[in-house]
Amino acid sequence: MLVSASEMLKKAKEGKYAVGQFNINNLEWTKAILLTAQECNSPVILGVSEGAGKYMTGFKTVTAMVKAMVEDLGITVPVALHLDHGSYEGAKKCIEAGFSSVMFDGSHYGIEENIEKTKEIIAIANAKGISVEAEVGSIGGEEDGVVGAGEVADPDECKLIADLGVDMLAAGIGNIHGKYPANWAGLNFEALDKIQQKTGTMPLVLHGGTGIPADMIQKAISLGVSKINVNTECQLSFAEATRKYVEAGKDLEGKGFDPRKLLAPGVEAIKATVKEKMELFGSVNKA
Ligand code: 13P
Repeated sequence: MLVSASEMLKKAKEGKYAVGQFNINNLEWTKAILLTAQECNSPVILGVSEGAGKYMTGFKTVTAMVKAMVEDLGITVPVALHLDHGSYEGAKKCIEAGFSSVMFDGSHYGIEENIEKTKEIIAIANAKGISVEAEVGSIGGEEDGVVGAGEVADPDECKLIADLGVDMLAAGIGNIHGKYPANWAGLNFEALDKIQQKTGTMPLVLHGGTGIPADMIQKAISLGVSKINVNTECQLSFAEATRKYVEAGKDLEGKGFDPRKLLAPGVEAIKATVKEKMELFGSVNKA
């Protein structure tokens, strides 16, 4: 059974740890993350971007696959299926399709429009017990072809959005998606502290979890971050493990061309990455 992210994030905020959101792209990815969460006895959020949803043929397919996999694998830790950076229409589609959580990213609208649209999504989602993530201050980098400049969120605007009744709030604090450039200034902890003071018990979300040094992750958690998103790092470890396998020529030997064998090293690499993150985020044995 899928659960909303609300309860697991409340517990994380109180317990001063963070739940990882790991984005999925296919069956192998999903299986690797679910098995690792179970092994680590950790709650987990499976993130689905609109592009990944399309790739997997649609949100209904994704919901059906994840629900069935949770059952068939005997997963007992809390699992939320969450739309990542959803548009207004995308969020509505995922609510219909049976997702247990959605992000409505209205950060590219003016604050009034962001508030109005976020309110509408909250009303529809809450009626079905689905949790909602909103965003203030765009996260930099590229995601699904959309490039954001990355800005630091205004604490007062964060408070306005938090008060609408969202379950979690993504606030830009200098974080970006993908690899961080060599001259990256680091996370803006002063801004995070102000946002946390204004928003109180609201679980805060840190996007762009790939490549943030461990000490910064821990400091962010101590300042109220309760959900951390990781996507690129799983993709990189999957690609690297697959490349090594192919370069070793194993795909051509014996039955090495069998997709189950070909994809196995990548799956193991994702498992290792997810486990490492769950340990760093402090969510192990918090299910
Ligand atoms: P990374 O791809 O940088 O890990 O960021 C993931 C993310 O924030 C998804 O919303």
